[in-house]
Amino acid sequence: MDVIQETAAMQQRCLALRKAGKTISFVPTMGYLHSGHLSLLQEGRKRGDVLVLSIFVNPTQFGPNEDLDSYPQSLEKDLDLARSVGVDLVWTPLPKQVYPDGYSTYVNVERLTEVLCGASRPDHFRGVTTVVCKLFNVVQPTVALFGQKDFQQLTVIRRMVADLNIPVEIAGLPIIREGDGLAMSSRNVYLSVDQRQQALVLSQAIATAQQLARGGESDPSEILTLLRKMIEAMPDARVDYLQICHQYTLQDQQQVDADSVLLLAVFIGKTRLIDNSFLL
Ligand code: PAJ
Repeated sequence: MDVIQETAAMQQRCLALRKAGKTISFVPTMGYLHSGHLSLLQEGRKRGDVLVLSIFVNPTQFGPNEDLDSYPQSLEKDLDLARSVGVDLVWTPLPKQVYPDGYSTYVNVERLTEVLCGASRPDHFRGVTTVVCKLFNVVQPTVALFGQKDFQQLTVIRRMVADLNIPVEIAGLPIIREGDGLAMSSRNVYLSVDQRQQALVLSQAIATAQQLARGGESDPSEILTLLRKMIEAMPDARVDYLQICHQYTLQDQQQVDADSVLLLAVFIGKTRLIDNSFLL
């Protein structure tokens, strides 16, 4: 496994691979790898000749009062994990290489980024699409793999790739959870033991909503009222958003159907957790 830091070296390497007729699977991450990331890498291993991982805590997708400075990092452990799942090439650029002095170009997907996480984290998706577009231009992947854990991010990236005719296939893979249901996230490490317990309310809320929807409840507001009560019963929980949206438009739905996705963002103390699931 090779680890490359410099952008030009990485791009030359990937261009040469493509020129030699190799397909490239690509998994972009911010590091602090867990089983969710590893599931993307394992699938990527099957889907391309060469498996590329990027590790970059992207400053432009963090708001001024967010956790950029405290975002957890564990490069040596990440590299061991990457090796264990057969990664060929890791790219670990520095912020000043990705955004050198004078940097002024941003990619912005409209509408889809104005709701849900985009409403509470202005400029977040502009940072995500900008960096993902840049990563694609350097890595030249044939397929890039993303988790459904970040459902809106996946939707926004698919839109960007279609709108800008980027020649890459986007694969969306299922959410990997802890044994007790908590969706894996690098940010779970911020939770105290007690908060970790309270955080189970996200996956419990999803299970309850599915039970109601599958039992015939088709009114989103009935479901959401009950879920809000359930979440707010936790002492440290505060709902950021709790919505039932159409899977493609991300607009609120009036009626539950096969396109309905429940999406939620909940602060447990200072830690903001997200989760989502189809209802039917
Ligand atoms: P990061 O949060 O490190 O996540 C990297 C990839 O892992 C994303 O596609 C995310 O959806 C996926 N992932 C995270 N937790 C998961 C889980 N529990 N199950 C399955 N997949 C999971 O998302 C980002 O980084 C950044 O925004 C990035 C796309 C790298 C751009 O900076």
